[in-house]
Amino acid sequence: MSMGTFRCSLCGRRVKVQSQIDMPIFDPGTGFAVCRNCIKELNKIIDEDEQKKLKKSHGSFTDELGNLLEKNKPHVIKAYLDEFIIKQERAKKILSVAAYNHYKRMKYDLENDGGNDEIDKSNVIILGPTGCGKTAMLSHLSKLLDIPFAVTDASSLTEAGFVGADVEVAVRNLYYAAGQNIEKTEHGIIYLDEFDKIARKSGENNSITADPGHEGVQQGLLKMLEGSVVEFTARGQRKHPEAPTIKVDTKNILFIVGGAFVGIDKIVAKRIRKGEASLGFGVDVPAKEDDDEKFNELIHQVRPEDLMKYGIIPEIIGRLPVICTLETLDEHSLLRILTEPRNAPVKQYEKLLAMDNVQLEFEEAALIAVAKKAIERKTGARSLKGIIEDVMLDVMFEIPKSNEPRKIIVTEECVTEGATPKIVPIENSDGENVDGVSLEKDVV
Ligand SMILES: Nc1ncnc2c1ncn2[C@@H]1O[C@H](COP(=O)(O)OP(=O)(O)OP(=O)(O)O)[C@@H](O)[C@H]1O
Ligand SMILES: [Mg+2]
Repeated sequence: MSMGTFRCSLCGRRVKVQSQIDMPIFDPGTGFAVCRNCIKELNKIIDEDEQKKLKKSHGSFTDELGNLLEKNKPHVIKAYLDEFIIKQERAKKILSVAAYNHYKRMKYDLENDGGNDEIDKSNVIILGPTGCGKTAMLSHLSKLLDIPFAVTDASSLTEAGFVGADVEVAVRNLYYAAGQNIEKTEHGIIYLDEFDKIARKSGENNSITADPGHEGVQQGLLKMLEGSVVEFTARGQRKHPEAPTIKVDTKNILFIVGGAFVGIDKIVAKRIRKGEASLGFGVDVPAKEDDDEKFNELIHQVRPEDLMKYGIIPEIIGRLPVICTLETLDEHSLLRILTEPRNAPVKQYEKLLAMDNVQLEFEEAALIAVAKKAIERKTGARSLKGIIEDVMLDVMFEIPKSNEPRKIIVTEECVTEGATPKIVPIENSDGENVDGVSLEKDVV
């Protein structure tokens, strides 16, 4: 617009226009104009209105819960977990139902304040071999749920008096996850990871070398599981008698505990063999220790008494009514984990390389080789990322040296023999005889 003095069509004031921003709306045809001041005022009114609406929609905690309940039905939660976690169908179902029921309990509790007939909590214990998705599943669940959720590593907890964190730390973590809101903290979910590491030393599993008061830790956790008022100091506050404390009632907090419980399958097998012997059946169940199928069969049969044998005190087991078991992942599952989940390693590399104008192609045989290697390492899906990282390291280093659009082809040999992936210019990549040029010749 031309410079000069113009009249604002809203406030009627004459405005000296030195740049377009002095009269942001101006229609030369009709002369309709709105000055900068009027726009500012309008913005303010709109902002205030939106804030009001936002407050209304946030409403009370009860209203909020109503919304959450509607939004987070078990099948919705499971569908979300399906996007990230391969297999473990039963575990995904159990967790989805547990989370949904937790919302329900909270709503019931808040609507029937002071009533005596409460719905019982269903704390969950998750067992499964290393790298099968326990921690991953819970961390994805926590991202979805709009209720505070905190993960605490149980192996870092020690009995009061020992060097380490007291059990209250688990509640304190939740308090901070809840934005220091006590009401929300009291309705949150605590996940205690590596729970098997606090098994009693006298349990049948003797792999633990140090026992920094594990039984004491279990007793402390028991109090929390039963529902008690836990007191803790704010983060960074040293614990001393005069320090102000925060009090949280754990009665309505849902506890999920999880761990690998290495060796629990043997305890189950022993129990089953004994049972069969006492019934007069043949006792020849050969202990095929490396057999994944056998393991999967056994792990699903874990009973409270097996956990007791493992070294968890009976009172705690009694407070964990839902036993959720995860399976060892087979080659086919590992193959799927490489490419299917939303955050699959191959997808992540594709995205990274796309930023350098590079396409990535993993040959099927290469993916199978990665899965096979992971199986050899016996750490479930955990080693997949590391194996792929090894294969991709040189490529990731060399690629950014040029901006040429290229394509990388990872073959089986890259995984099995450490061969360097082929890099081909993109123009040739759809031709029939792609002549891969080796990394060194092409790029260095
Ligand atoms: N079922 C699965 N689906 C998809 N990804 C998985 C699955 N299981 C494991 N992973 C991947 O492997 C990695 C390691 O898994 P996770 O940390 O969940 O193991 P874990 O079961 O907690 O083992 P540990 O007992 O050793 O703690 C995760 O980061 C995840 O990406
Ligand atoms: Mg874990």
